[in-house]
Amino acid sequence: MSKPRYHESVPAINVEEFRKVVMSRRSVRRFDDTPIPDAVLQDCLDMALLAPNSSNLQPWEFHVVKTPAVKEALAHACLGQNAAKTAQELVVAVARLETWQEHCDMMLENWPEETIPKVVQSYYGRLAKIYYNQGPMNILGVGKRVLSKVTGFSRPVPRGPFTHADMKVWAAKTVALATENFMLAMRAHGFDTCPMEGFDAHRVHKLLDLPSDAFIVMVIGCGKRAADGVYHARIRFARERFIKTH
Ligand SMILES: Cc1cc2nc3c(=O)[nH]c(=O)nc-3n(C[C@H](O)[C@H](O)[C@H](O)COP(=O)(O)O)c2cc1C
Repeated sequence: MSKPRYHESVPAINVEEFRKVVMSRRSVRRFDDTPIPDAVLQDCLDMALLAPNSSNLQPWEFHVVKTPAVKEALAHACLGQNAAKTAQELVVAVARLETWQEHCDMMLENWPEETIPKVVQSYYGRLAKIYYNQGPMNILGVGKRVLSKVTGFSRPVPRGPFTHADMKVWAAKTVALATENFMLAMRAHGFDTCPMEGFDAHRVHKLLDLPSDAFIVMVIGCGKRAADGVYHARIRFARERFIKTH
C-alpha cells in the first residue's frame, strides 16, 4: 500500500449527541429576548465556513446585521415575519457569483504544501477559469453547451454551468450547505434559527449595499426559542417517498 500524502486524526464521535442536534433543530418563528453571546455567533459562523463547497471556491458571504435601524428595516423586508422581528440576530447568507476567479488564484496562493501538484495548478490556473466562465453575453457558455452536447455523445462530460442561472444554482448549493452547518451549530450551542426565503430580495440587496453579483440565498433569524416559538409538531412524509435505491 502506498504511503498516504496527507493524514489527519479523526476524533471519536457520539452519534446520539449529533442526533439530538439534528432532531431538536426546528424552524423557530418566535424568539425570546435572551441575547446570543458574540463568541457563540462567531463560532457558528466559523463552522458555517467549514461546509463542503464546490471546488473549494467558497462563493459565500454571511452578513451579520447589528445596527438596530438596519435590523429593523431587514425584518420589515422579511415581510414582517415574526421569525425576523423577534430574532436576536439576523444573518443574511449570500452567494457571490463572481468571486470564483479571485478564489482560483487564492487556492494556488494558499495551497498547504510547498509544491503545488500539477493537477491542482492546471485545475485552478486554467480549467476552472474556463469551467465557471460564461463569457460576455454568455458567449462562452453557449460554446461550452454545444461542445458538451457533441462530445457528450461518446463520453461523460460536464453539462454545466453554462448560464448565469446555472451559476446561481452552483453557488446556492454551496451556500445552502453552509447555512445548515450554521443552524446546526446554533442548535448545538443551545440556540435556535429560522431560515427564511420570504423576503424582498431587491430591498435586502439595497439595504446591505451588496455588489451586483450577490445573490441572497437566505435570511436566518437566530435566538433562543420562546415558549410558543415552534408552531406545530414536525411533519415529514413517509421516507419511502423520498429514499430510492438503484
Ligand atoms: C430555503 C428555505 C426557506 C424558508 N423560508 C421560510 C420563511 O420565509 N419563513 C418561515 O417561517 N419558514 C421558512 N422556512 C422554514 C420551513 O418552513 C421549515 O424548514 C419547514 O416547514 C420544516 O420545518 P422544520 O424546519 O421545523 O423541520 C424555510 C426553509 C428553507 C429551507
